[in-house]
Formats: sequence, structure tokens, C-alpha cells
Amino acid sequence: MYQSKIAGLGSYVPENVVTNDDLSKLMDTNDAWIQERTGIKERRHIKKGDGNTTAVMGVKAAKIALERSKISKDDIDLIVFATLSPDLYFPGCGVQVQEMLDIDTCPALDVRNQCSGFIYALSVADQFIKTGMYKNVLVIGSENHSGGLDFTDRGRSVSVIFGDGAGAAVLTRSNHIGQGILSTHLHSEGKHAMELSLKGPSTLHWVPEIIAENPQGDDIPYYPYMNGQFVFKNAIERFSEVIHEGLTANGLEVKDINMLIPHQANLRISQFIQKKLDLSDDQVFNNIQKYGNTTAASIPIALTEAWEQGKIKEGDLVVLAAFGSGFTWGSAIIEW
Ligand code: UT7
Repeated sequence: MYQSKIAGLGSYVPENVVTNDDLSKLMDTNDAWIQERTGIKERRHIKKGDGNTTAVMGVKAAKIALERSKISKDDIDLIVFATLSPDLYFPGCGVQVQEMLDIDTCPALDVRNQCSGFIYALSVADQFIKTGMYKNVLVIGSENHSGGLDFTDRGRSVSVIFGDGAGAAVLTRSNHIGQGILSTHLHSEGKHAMELSLKGPSTLHWVPEIIAENPQGDDIPYYPYMNGQFVFKNAIERFSEVIHEGLTANGLEVKDINMLIPHQANLRISQFIQKKLDLSDDQVFNNIQKYGNTTAASIPIALTEAWEQGKIKEGDLVVLAAFGSGFTWGSAIIEW
């Protein structure tokens, strides 16, 4: 049995900064409400014509991660791409990335696990490396939310939260057992699938039917629906549960954590977890203030920033944790 480690990290966010004040010109919202309820000050949105798409941003992040890993794109054995906002209904972004990076015929797959997407993707990559089937895996999380949000009063409780961006990690076989990904723990609870969902366009909600059934456009299934308070309550329970699960499986305790990178869902959720686990400010990394919630991209963007800022050093115990639509949740325990 082998062990995997992260050999390189990269991230990319579009240049276009959208502040809370910018949003208040589009809908009935304000900076005070958004900051108080979510901690978000601004986010990035793709600007029409800037060339960015979910796959393109993923490629930009991947190029940085590949360069830092010193692993050639030609040595990548598998691409795993996590997103809820793919460029196309099919095929997935993984094969688009493969084409854009000019990688020959390695397998490429997409993971559709929303906010937990990056941890699920990391876990998939880790299993392939552990068994020895593959040595180097490119893992990407990328989202283009701004293209699919309702920027009217009707969508304000959802659209102020989400932002665009991408993050990537190159995983490789670790030469030292004990260094790298120690474990991943994944969960889902499908009975809450509709509490945070986007129904159409889909095979159940084709566009012509949507238009025929909603001539006034008052019940539009192709914007996301979120039962915010219900999601919030479940998130704070599941986050701490799955962090404890990962630590216990490795004989570790909360006090051993050097850096917790929670999925950037809402600053209030991160603060709840921090308080519940009794972690200091230095033990938790947040950057939702600048980028909003970038779903599958949020952990790799935050992980990359924490590493770039020297907040993660060799030997550190790094914990990643996420919760989101599905519901799905998970954690990864990493000895850096
Ligand atoms: O990453 C995936 C997982 N997602 C999450 O983890 C999100 C979890 N949930 C949340 O973060 C919070 O529930 C929200 C930030 C989405 C909402 O915060 P809340 O404290 O639960 O607010 P609420 O939905 O209960 O709304 C409170 C009030 C309502 O007005 P009334 O009924 O009290 O008059 C809303 O209409 O705030 C109003 N409101 C807004 N006001 C200004 C909702 N959205 C906005 C807005 N600006 N953007």
C-alpha cells in the first residue's frame, strides 16, 4: 500500500471584483447585511469576454500547481475535476482540461459533489495512488457561479454568497510513509438533496417545458434553491463530526491540528466550528471575505493561499473539511 502527498498547489480567480455595494445596485441588499450574516466583503465574477470558463480557470490553477510540483503534465496518470457548474452538460470539464493542457490519453473524470467536491476528488485520487494503480493525479475544483445566479431581489439570499474561481493540487506517491494524506472520510445523506439544489435544465426540467410551465417566470427551477438556515444547522454539526472522525481514525486530537481549512461556506459557520473545537485564530484559515463561497474551488484556493503565506510548513497537521449540497460532507487529514 502506498501513500499520497500533495506535491504542488495552485489557484486562480477572475480579475473582476464585485463588492457588496456593487450587488446592492442590482438587488435589495446591503453591505451590512452581507457582512453580518456571511462575513463576505467581495467576490470575483467572470466578466463576459475575459475568456474564463469553469474549465479554463481550472487549467490556469492546474498550470501553477504543475509547475510547483515539478511534475510534467505528461506524467499525469489521472485528472479528477470537481464542479457543480461545468461548461457543458456533457462531456465533463476533466476532458476539456486534458485537451487544453495537451495531455495525451490519461483517464479524466468529473466529480459532482458540490461544496464537498474537492474532498471527494482528493479522496478518489488518494485511493488510486494508495493501490499503486496511478502515481500522479491532477485534482481540480473550479466554479463559474456568476453565470447561473439570480441577481434580482428574488435570488438575493443565494446570489450574494457565491463567487467564481479555481484551485488545483497535484498528488503524487509519497516516499515517506506517514507523510501525506493520512485519511479521508466521506458521507452523504440524500434525503436532504432538495434543500440545496438546482433542478433544471435537466432531464426532468427541459428548457421548453420550464418556459411553458412558468410563463411569468415566477418559479424558475434553473436558479439554485437553498434552505439557508437548515443547511447552516446541518453544516455546523457535520463539520465537527467529520473532523473528529478523521482525527480519531488516526489516533489524533483537536490539539494536534496546526491548520484547519474549512470549506468557505459562510464565515459564521467557520467561526462556529472554531469555537466548538476550541481552536485558536492561528489554527483556522479563512478567505471567504475576499472570494465568497466558491464551492468545489474554496478549499484548494484557501489551501494554496495558506501555503503561499507560509502558514503551512513541513510536518504540520493540516485538516480539510467540507459540507454542502447532497447533503455531502467529508474531511481529509494530512501530514504536510
Ligand atoms: O456552501 C454550501 C452550503 N451553504 C451554506 O452553508 C449556507 C448556509 N446558510 C447561510 O449561510 C445563511 O442561512 C444565509 C447567509 C444564506 C442566510 O442567513 P440567515 O441568517 O439564515 O438569514 P435568513 O434567510 O433567515 O433571512 C433573514 C432576513 C429575511 O428577511 P425577514 O423575513 O426577516 O424580513 C430575508 O428576506 O434577511 C433577508 N435577506 C436579505 N436581506 C438583505 C435574505 N437575503 C438577504 C440579502 N440582503 N441578500
